[in-house]
Amino acid sequence: KKVLLAYSGGLDTSAIIPWLKETYDNCEVVAFCADVGQGDEELIGIKDKAIASGASDCIVADLKEEFVKDYIFPILKTGAVYEGQYLLGTSMARPVIAKAMVEVAKQVGADALCHGCTGKGNDQVRFEACFAALAPNLAVIAPWREWDMVSREDLLNYLDQRNIPCSASLTKIYSRDANAWHISHEGGELEDPWNPPSEQVWTMTVSPEQAPDAPETISLSFEKGELTHVDGQALSPYQALVYLNNKAAAHGVGRIDIVENRLVGMKSRGCYETPGGTVLMAAYKGLEALILDKEALKFREYVGLEFSHVIYDGRWFTSLAKAQLSAAASLAEKLTGDIVIKLYKGVATVAQRRSPNSLYSEDFATFGADDVYDQKHAEGFIRLFTLSSRIEAMQLKATQSE
Ligand code: ARG
Ligand code: SIN
Repeated sequence: KKVLLAYSGGLDTSAIIPWLKETYDNCEVVAFCADVGQGDEELIGIKDKAIASGASDCIVADLKEEFVKDYIFPILKTGAVYEGQYLLGTSMARPVIAKAMVEVAKQVGADALCHGCTGKGNDQVRFEACFAALAPNLAVIAPWREWDMVSREDLLNYLDQRNIPCSASLTKIYSRDANAWHISHEGGELEDPWNPPSEQVWTMTVSPEQAPDAPETISLSFEKGELTHVDGQALSPYQALVYLNNKAAAHGVGRIDIVENRLVGMKSRGCYETPGGTVLMAAYKGLEALILDKEALKFREYVGLEFSHVIYDGRWFTSLAKAQLSAAASLAEKLTGDIVIKLYKGVATVAQRRSPNSLYSEDFATFGADDVYDQKHAEGFIRLFTLSSRIEAMQLKATQSE
């Protein structure tokens, strides 16, 4: 028996290693760690840590470029935003991690996949939905749904009794999840939605109050929907995102504090920081506004709304997701142009935009003298556009006077 464990080096997944061996017949445990841009802090020394906890091996996969290029950027084209605010950072990373895990499981000949998600959250569903689509025959083990431990103290005692070294502390206030796109914060005082987040919640951005008094601009160039240049530099997708994160974070851009509906039915309160993502979203929307006509934009908004649920709910590896992504990609083919975003005190706004595909025409929009648009034509348009209202009103009047 061999189990591949999604391992982070944190307390939960450290305790899972001995627990798996004890619970599943002294099975071999291989740790798997995905580098999705969460930062070196979590990754340094992770292999030694896994082995010290009893894993036979620890495989670290660098998924940073793949994550940004094949997941984040295609999702950006759909305009997906969950419940109007959440830029889906945790949700987006699950499919790329799950896919790599399934590949490694096949390479090492694992019989089961294991994750450290709780039985109350979205992540368990997302991972297992991806596993179901990619490896329907592999068993899945979710220790949080099986063991009786409930607190950090329980986990620390469990490791202590087994003489397994662990640097985790008893008090860790927040549950966080970081990757190249965002960091999420839940727990601690945030569990009461009447408590404002304390300043120690935030780790990626400066507070808007502390942000520089002078605004800064970023220029972004897109070619057929693909980001090609940031401030004149041709950067890889991941490098471009890192660059945008740094600039936007310094201006306090990308913080949200929300209550959301989890897939499993409960509401949860979370704070999120998505600095570069907030800039990219503003840039995309700024370009779309110039290029997509009313009906195309309405359709894109519809795709974004639908896709936000598809990705939040973990349905990436489905025909539905594929269809929505290709619809969004098709519309994005027109998105060529340049955008300048202004960063100031927590806000990213479009300051300048241009595109060879722009449908915006000063000739049509001008309030000055014009000879391309005959205002007299509007009268007939409005008469026919409102004809059904007129007919209904006349019908109502006729029946009332009967
Ligand atoms: N509520 C967010 C989501 O469902 C963030 C979840 C954070 N996950 C975590 N393992 N800490 O996408
Ligand atoms: C977890 O429950 O493991 C984290 C929160 C979530 O998945 O929603």
